[in-house]
This record gives sequence, C-alpha cells and structure tokens, in this order.
Amino acid sequence: MKIFLDTADVAEIRKYAQSGLVDGVTTNPSLAAKTGKDYAESLKEITSIIKGSVSAEVLSTEYEGMLKEGRAVAKIAKNIAVKVPSTWDGLRACRAFADEGLTVNVTLCFSPVQAMLAAKAGAGFISPFIGRVDDVGEDGMGLIRDIRAIYDNYGFKTEILAASISSVSHVREAALAGADVVTMPADIFKKLMDHPLTDKGLAAFAADAKKANVTIKT
Ligand code: E4P
Repeated sequence: MKIFLDTADVAEIRKYAQSGLVDGVTTNPSLAAKTGKDYAESLKEITSIIKGSVSAEVLSTEYEGMLKEGRAVAKIAKNIAVKVPSTWDGLRACRAFADEGLTVNVTLCFSPVQAMLAAKAGAGFISPFIGRVDDVGEDGMGLIRDIRAIYDNYGFKTEILAASISSVSHVREAALAGADVVTMPADIFKKLMDHPLTDKGLAAFAADAKKANVTIKT
C-alpha cells in the first residue's frame, strides 16, 4: 500500500519525507489556502522533494476552465496528477487529460458509481472521502470495499486512494479493505508508529542493559 501525505505544507513534507516512507502527496485548495503561499510555488517545491505522485487540484468547475488550469499545473513537474472533482465536467476533463497522457486524480468521490465512471474516464486515482462519509452517519470504509469489488470485477486499473482520513484506525481499515493508497495528514502519519508497549519494552531493555553494563562497541 502506498502512503501519501495530505498537506500542502512544504516544511511538513520535507520533515516526514526523511522517513523514506512517503510515496506521494495530495493537496487541495483548502490545504493550499492554509499555507498562505502561492499554490504553484508550493507545488514546485513539493515536486522537488517527493518523486512520487503529487496531486494538484483545479479550481474551475467548468470543463474549459479545468482544461486550462489542469494543463498549467501539469507543466510544473512530470509527477503532478491533475485533480478534478467527481462531476460530469470533471469526468470529461479527466478523459481529455488521460488522452493527453496526464495522470488524473478524481476527487470528492462519495459513491461507488461515481468511482466506476471515473475509472471509465481514465482516472489514475479515485479519491473516496472516508471521514466525510462517516461524518454524515454513513459507512466510509464500506465505500472503499464497494469500489474495490467493482474495480476487481472489471479489471479497472484506477488506484483507490483513501482520502479524508482522520484516525489511525482509518489507515488500518483502508489497508484491510484493499485501498491502493492512503493519504493522511502528517499528525496521523506520525501516530502510525505509536504503541505504548513499544515504549515500555524499550525502557525495559535500556534499564536492563544499564544494570548489567551491556554495551555495543562501535
Ligand atoms: C485528499 O485528496 C483530500 O483533499 C483530503 O483527504 C480531504 O480531507 P478532509 O475531509 O479531512 O478535508
């Protein structure tokens, strides 16, 4: 399973990329707004740090506008995936971008049939929003499972990118449900390695070694 960071914060991306475990980045207009920086400038920096896919979202909701904006962000770097919404205009733009050889991430996906149409439109990634589905009392992880089943039934190669992740459990469940990618905020990524028994075990090993003067010569 690939791990993406869901942020436009360059310093945060630089920090966590050091783990060697960040396969890509997703951004959106709200995340870009939070940085207070020029979106294109941030994308330029992010694509210089991360060699994997970096999603850049269009702002226009109309086909023609999406085409112009998508082509502009795609010029920033080879590893940009153009992010378009799950709308008819978005899917039409997705088809056009895919035919031009660009990778497309279809975002704001809330239903299995939206995901099916995105795959037919040539999407490289589909982004179902788990947390936001849960927030309205529906089953976010069920959405991932349904999309997985549909894609497997028909051999669609579109990668399922579980988005809107708000807990470590979401990451575990998305992996179990067969998501290809999970994108998460940096604070969730950081928590993935937390376990009280790891801390307790380490403290005991250190105390025992100190007591018996166990050392390793370097
Ligand atoms: C990912 O591509 C989305 O932009 C993101 O995961 C949305 O997350 P949110 O629902 O926490 O805003």
